Amino acid sequence: MEKLFYGNHMRIGVLGGGQLGRMLIQSAMSYDARIEVMENALDAPSAHLAHHFVKGDITAYDDVLRFGSDKTIITVEIENVNIEALETLEKQGVKVFPQPRVLRIIKDKGLQKEFYAAHNIPTPPFRLVNNAKEARQELDFLPFFQKLRTGGYDGKGVRKITTVNELDDDFDAPTVLEKFVDFEKELSVIVARNEEGQVVTYPLVECEFSPKLNLVEFLFSPADVSCELERSAAELGRSIIEKLDMVGILAVELFLTKEGDLLVNEIAPRPHNSGHHTIECNYTSQFEQHLRSITNQALGNTDIILPGVMVNLLGADGYEGDAIYDGMNEFMAQKGVYFHVYGKSTTKPHRKMGHVTVVHDSLLEAKRLARIIKDKVKVIA
Ligand SMILES: Nc1ncnc2c1ncn2[C@@H]1O[C@H](COP(=O)(O)OP(=O)(O)OP(=O)(O)O)[C@@H](O)[C@H]1O
Ligand SMILES: [Mg+2]
Repeated sequence: MEKLFYGNHMRIGVLGGGQLGRMLIQSAMSYDARIEVMENALDAPSAHLAHHFVKGDITAYDDVLRFGSDKTIITVEIENVNIEALETLEKQGVKVFPQPRVLRIIKDKGLQKEFYAAHNIPTPPFRLVNNAKEARQELDFLPFFQKLRTGGYDGKGVRKITTVNELDDDFDAPTVLEKFVDFEKELSVIVARNEEGQVVTYPLVECEFSPKLNLVEFLFSPADVSCELERSAAELGRSIIEKLDMVGILAVELFLTKEGDLLVNEIAPRPHNSGHHTIECNYTSQFEQHLRSITNQALGNTDIILPGVMVNLLGADGYEGDAIYDGMNEFMAQKGVYFHVYGKSTTKPHRKMGHVTVVHDSLLEAKRLARIIKDKVKVIA
């Protein structure tokens, strides 16, 4: 039977209506694949673009069950969803990708770490504690990163602890204490797997984080690493998605240590910030690849067309309200500059409001221009 993933017979539901869902819809349109979205906020980035939009709480059992029961496939654009409902849907014959059991592991940074340990996946040493009091008993482990096991995102829920005085009661919840890694750089490899078990990996990218905000500021493609390291990262990515027996797209965030070893920081079973450049820079974007993998199509070529740099457009400090993209005009005529505005009506400090991808034959040139754009384009109110 011919496999089609477009038209009326294939109902694809997405939990979450943010920018990732929005860019998924953008790629789905090329195939007339119809995306239906559930999300609570009526003004979410993908709400008005979905083939069908349902207002609902993605963390509520009844809402997720109701939304999913008439779908062919359910996927997510955020891990914080009701997994019990997804398990029920799976039993009813709805295809849920990534699978609920994978979401259950990844949603909890503690279970993620235990998964790495159980499968010999290299990761920084860690300890699990249940509350602030227990964390204060692990002083021999300093310096470490303390991470909320659930609910953190974009650097919120993560903090570096160097001395005992920093262990206040802000994180009085189950957390992972992860040994501080004095890394050389941060890298990311994206892999995708379809139901037949075909796997593809994207070339490694290099992420430059804002140390203040703990979130990605710049991303460089390709990463400046040896072929050998490129191969090890691809093998590591492939082994993780296979050990998870997962269908969909998986982003693997890595630390490259000063000794040249790769350690897994964390994984995300969905399109990821470190893959946005693939829209312009690679033959198949991460969004199209996700769609292909969950619908069990042949996976697309992941090679690089041109080097590129991705810059996140974050809400500027001190502004809250109707968003204005100040300074954007100046770069609109530049060759190789692609703006993506997510359509969030209000800006807040550090909120992800959009991104820019700069492509150029020379990565050095792309970096130069991207840094200027980062300085000059401000999301204000
Ligand atoms: N053990 C560590 N050693 C050194 N730096 C770390 C460590 N853990 C985290 N970091 C820094 O903090 C950043 C955010 O950590 P992590 O990826 O765990 O948080 P997150 O909030 O889930 O991230 P995301 O921005 O991907 O949503 C990392 O990318 C890295 O720069
Ligand atoms: Mg991260």
